[in-house]
Amino acid sequence: MKKVAILAQKGGAGKTTIAIHLSVLAMQRDIASCVIDCDPQQSALGWYEEREDSDPPVVDGHQPSGRRPDKTGTLARLLRVAEMDEYDLTIIDTAPHAAEAIGEAARAADFCIVPCRPAILDLKAISKTIEILSVSDTPFAVLLNSCPPKRGVGENSMVKESRDLLLGQDIPLFKTAVTQRAAFSHALIDGRAVTEFAPGSPAADEIGGVLDELLELTK
Ligand SMILES: Nc1ncnc2c1ncn2[C@@H]1O[C@H](COP(=O)(O)OP(=O)(O)OP(=O)(O)O)[C@@H](O)[C@H]1O
Ligand SMILES: [Mg+2]
Repeated sequence: MKKVAILAQKGGAGKTTIAIHLSVLAMQRDIASCVIDCDPQQSALGWYEEREDSDPPVVDGHQPSGRRPDKTGTLARLLRVAEMDEYDLTIIDTAPHAAEAIGEAARAADFCIVPCRPAILDLKAISKTIEILSVSDTPFAVLLNSCPPKRGVGENSMVKESRDLLLGQDIPLFKTAVTQRAAFSHALIDGRAVTEFAPGSPAADEIGGVLDELLELTK
């Protein structure tokens, strides 16, 4: 079973959006997937409550405060259950501003995705997340999310500049960038994802690109 944590110290980077979309698309491709929601805000669980389909399951992985993360912790236990239940892919959605919990998720995962908006303050803020990640030694890649749409041919200049800045610091990066599109938030309202709400749309294609890269990176 592949264990993929989505993390970013910064709030609103798109962790939950990416976690849900990857898990739904994996399921649509017959990859048995589930989500562990470690965020006390429980956004992924809230999405699941609205969902008609019971797949992909979202379970509560929030560690009650005061309990130190250890081998008997909530996340480690849920990952063992997912493994026993023969899931192929477990996505761990994490809370912002939670260095200890992010560190625990990074150590438990085989791979981490760090979503980041292509804006200077966001790009600067990811160094904190990368510091936490480097302690765990788990491979990771940054995923540019909420990017301005392309105008004409070629990439938007903000996306290109962000890409150059990260690659200039040898920070691994997904080739696919996810654009700011209303479909990503509309689809979630009634418990769906863009690949169900608008299959074949540019938004669905982008998530397809991210999942293809993720599967390649975690081979
Ligand atoms: N590519 C996108 N296009 C349009 N809206 C997006 C996109 N990515 C995220 N959003 C919207 O941005 C907001 C924040 O996204 P999300 O909740 O996924 O971030 P988060 O990192 O999980 O936040 P938190 O740190 O609070 O957990 C949401 O309203 C979501 O619908
Ligand atoms: Mg979230």
